[in-house]
Amino acid sequence: MNTQDFVRPWDAFQAANRFRRTIRKFNSVPIPEDEVHALLAEAAFAPSSGDMQPYELHWIRAPALKASIATACNGQKAAASAADFIVVVANPALGLRTARAQLAHVESSLTLEQDSKAYYRKQVGMFQKILGVGSSALWSPLVLLAALIRPTLSLIPIGHIGGRQWAARNAIFAAQTLMLAAAAKGIDSCPMEGFSASQVARLLRLPRGSVIPLVIALGYRADDARIEERWRYPVMDMVISH
Ligand SMILES: Cc1cc2nc3c(=O)[nH]c(=O)nc-3n(C[C@H](O)[C@H](O)[C@H](O)COP(=O)(O)O)c2cc1C
Repeated sequence: MNTQDFVRPWDAFQAANRFRRTIRKFNSVPIPEDEVHALLAEAAFAPSSGDMQPYELHWIRAPALKASIATACNGQKAAASAADFIVVVANPALGLRTARAQLAHVESSLTLEQDSKAYYRKQVGMFQKILGVGSSALWSPLVLLAALIRPTLSLIPIGHIGGRQWAARNAIFAAQTLMLAAAAKGIDSCPMEGFSASQVARLLRLPRGSVIPLVIALGYRADDARIEERWRYPVMDMVISH
């Protein structure tokens, strides 16, 4: 799509952004499968560092597993009434998987220019190093020390914890894209961090190295869903102009 063809959908964006509220009580209406597919497809367009997409979105719809996930969410009300769950799973190893797939795509592409191919080889090569040798736990003491001396270095994607934090940070963009996409379709959501990560990891048989930044409950708001007044810290006090 060219920039000049693009209709700026401000009103639609604002309507979806304002419709999205954290809903903690859903009605019993199921979400059509193709609607959830559409949300997942949009989430896949979220930006990620180096386009490495170091995450998976686990769509939970089987009743027995849904019940177990709801229990693992500490019995939260939103979880108990959710029509579906999306469990956001991040892992630096998934970034490496993307890197390999992206390189294979680049090498076999008949349409990419040589300049583009060179760009991708360099970019993907760099991330393969960071996510490969850079994610070794051997770096972690050094990273801890560096973060102690220079706190702004706390988020560098090096070492076993740094790599997982990096993966989780990237996954959150997909989570938010999915919730806004849901809102645009009139589907409600509740992002949840109140869950037992070890229980959810066991239920989904996640490989070692996985972290779960968020579980999203999806559904349609119940008529008597309690929706709190929307308060935000004054935006002009939050925005620092330089
Ligand atoms: C990372 C994250 C974790 C959250 N965890 C929970 C949770 O475990 N349970 C819950 O009911 N709401 C949870 N929320 C929802 C927030 O309470 C909610 O977004 C906030 O109060 C603002 O309300 P709004 O989303 O309706 O604008 C979470 C939100 C975020 C972004």
